[in-house]
Amino acid sequence: MNRNAFSRPRRLWLAGVVASLAIAGWTLGAQQASDPQTVVNNAYNQFKALKEGKNADYIPALAKVDPNLFGIALVTVDGKVYTAGDIKTEVSIQSISKVFTMAQVIQEQGLDAIEKRIGVDATGARFNSIIAVEGVKVVSGTGAPEMNPLVNPGAISATSMVTGANADAVWKKIIGFHNDAAGRSLTVLQDVYKSESDSNQRNQAIGALMLAYGYIKSNWQQAVDLYTRQCSIGVNAKDLAVMAATLAASGKNPVTGKQVLDAGKVPGVLAVMATAGLYDDSGKWLYHTGLPAKSGVGGGIIAVSPGKFGIAVISPPLDDAGNSIRAQRAIAVVSNALGGNPYAPRK
Ligand code: DON
Repeated sequence: MNRNAFSRPRRLWLAGVVASLAIAGWTLGAQQASDPQTVVNNAYNQFKALKEGKNADYIPALAKVDPNLFGIALVTVDGKVYTAGDIKTEVSIQSISKVFTMAQVIQEQGLDAIEKRIGVDATGARFNSIIAVEGVKVVSGTGAPEMNPLVNPGAISATSMVTGANADAVWKKIIGFHNDAAGRSLTVLQDVYKSESDSNQRNQAIGALMLAYGYIKSNWQQAVDLYTRQCSIGVNAKDLAVMAATLAASGKNPVTGKQVLDAGKVPGVLAVMATAGLYDDSGKWLYHTGLPAKSGVGGGIIAVSPGKFGIAVISPPLDDAGNSIRAQRAIAVVSNALGGNPYAPRK
């Protein structure tokens, strides 16, 4: 375009208009959808009738959860809460707990501990793959290249790394960290804990193998039991969003004001979530949203827009990779409308 298409006063006027829009926080195109409550409501209405996917049933209690349950919660780094749908009903946190137990180990033992003992790379396999365990046995203790704390073998190993004189002491630390991130006292859903304890032979096999290959140093049975318990913690969509917002706000719970995780340790946690949070669909997810995220087979997904907000959706029906279908769609729509992608140009 001819540089002189606009006269200097006209260019200054245009610059002023653009600057005012930037101050408002959003570009003209996104402005209509910039109010977070409107965006959350719109996403809820857009997806409330979506019926694709199926509840997890390899843990029998999960098959009984109402598949119509659907709630969205978004919490900003300054503690504002926006919700739609059912944000009261609790589901089991499942694999989302892996993020917070990993974070606790990083908090106590540093970023190196997780990288060297477990690894921070994608396995390219399902979350409970035994082939993935076989693939890394030769490198145990040397910084396993194809393992991470968000798949079951790495997660059971991370749980085994939480220090404490006995199982009760370790559990107090695990639940305490989850409570601090959520900003309230969470409890274990006993029916889910019992159901998974009765049916987790595969995780027991994984625990035993991780001991045999040197990832777990002792007492794999205790590690598997505490891992099963942490997966059975009951959470609602708002709890999960506050937990995600704690990571978005550099480790400080924006509702309670408590610093849960050192700010300098948060990027490492988010990096593992970006790499492996949605298992072998993590790449696709990142491609479309840019958000570090984590799913659980209870139907929850959390996602983090660093410096902006945490978001969570609960909807039990899953896709083949084990990720909630409605949660993926709703989070992507909300985040994209609010400029949540950290790789996109800042608005
Ligand atoms: O160990 C399991 O199989 C479950 N407690 C957790 C798996 C899970 O949530 C995978 N996530 N999408």
